[in-house]
Amino acid sequence: MFTKDHRRPRRRRHHHTERSKAPVAAPPAAGPAIKVQGLVKSFGDLEVLRGVDFEVARGSVFALLGSNGAGKTTIVNILATLLRADVGTTTVNGFDVRTQPAEVRGSVSLTGQFAAVDQILSGRENLVLIARLRQQADPGAVADGLLDRFSLTDAGGRRVSEYSGGMRRRLDIAMSLIGEPPVIFLDEPTTGLDPEARLEVWATVKRLAGSGTTVLLTTQHLEEAEHLADRIAILHQGRIIADGTMAELRRLLPPAEVEYVEKKPSLEEVFLAVVGHNRETDSATTAGDRP
Ligand SMILES: Nc1ncnc2c1ncn2[C@@H]1O[C@H](COP(=O)(O)OP(=O)(O)O)[C@@H](O)[C@H]1O
Ligand SMILES: [Mg+2]
Repeated sequence: MFTKDHRRPRRRRHHHTERSKAPVAAPPAAGPAIKVQGLVKSFGDLEVLRGVDFEVARGSVFALLGSNGAGKTTIVNILATLLRADVGTTTVNGFDVRTQPAEVRGSVSLTGQFAAVDQILSGRENLVLIARLRQQADPGAVADGLLDRFSLTDAGGRRVSEYSGGMRRRLDIAMSLIGEPPVIFLDEPTTGLDPEARLEVWATVKRLAGSGTTVLLTTQHLEEAEHLADRIAILHQGRIIADGTMAELRRLLPPAEVEYVEKKPSLEEVFLAVVGHNRETDSATTAGDRP
């Protein structure tokens, strides 16, 4: 297991400066954007989380990778204060989710697997609506800025019901950025999208990452985590069984008898190596869910 101290002081310092503009109480200057310790959660007899620990550095993209039903949404909902953990300590943007839920909610935005946009309104109207709700000084300017940033300017006046899946998801992510929350949760942002739309959303997340926002994304897709994340945690049977950069995860593979110098192991190979001993008892592996 990797240590949890692979943070990036260079980026953190920069982002702290940026965040002072955000309309939330000033977070502690130091420390990770998200810190989860000993998280336990059951639904009745079903033990979903059995002691989950991880940290997300400020300004980084962190992927929580796990099969369908692994508990990814449960973790996101606890982080977003929508659900209470049975045991464990969780801070987001320096605020405790249990004792400072309002401050946490002021620090985050959650984009779910099912787009929250209103189909009857235009893309621009959706953005203006949320900008009003979040008490932005100039909702129209906020909307136009985001349409431009997400390459939706031409489509901005059209009803969302006419948008493609990728455009809808991009609009959903754009809406989540209103008010400049320092931490964004993207829960399976590309599930249900066709390959082309998935690439559109990937490009969007890449741009987000460059802007200093901390992104926690969940995914069942190994290549998505590999492509987008600075750091990847594999959630399996209620625990994080591997956590590291792609380079660190690659080192988890047992050394090959024959070395193929030109081919780096893929995340899929690492994933299968670390969960492999459980595969007989766990039919719903992520690899099996791939298109
Ligand atoms: N409110 C709930 N009541 C009972 N069981 C739940 C509830 N929410 C989630 N679960 C169960 O907890 C497990 C983890 O669910 P979830 O966090 O949604 O997984 P994931 O997002 O990784 O697919 C699943 O077995 C799911 O059926
Ligand atoms: Mg889920």
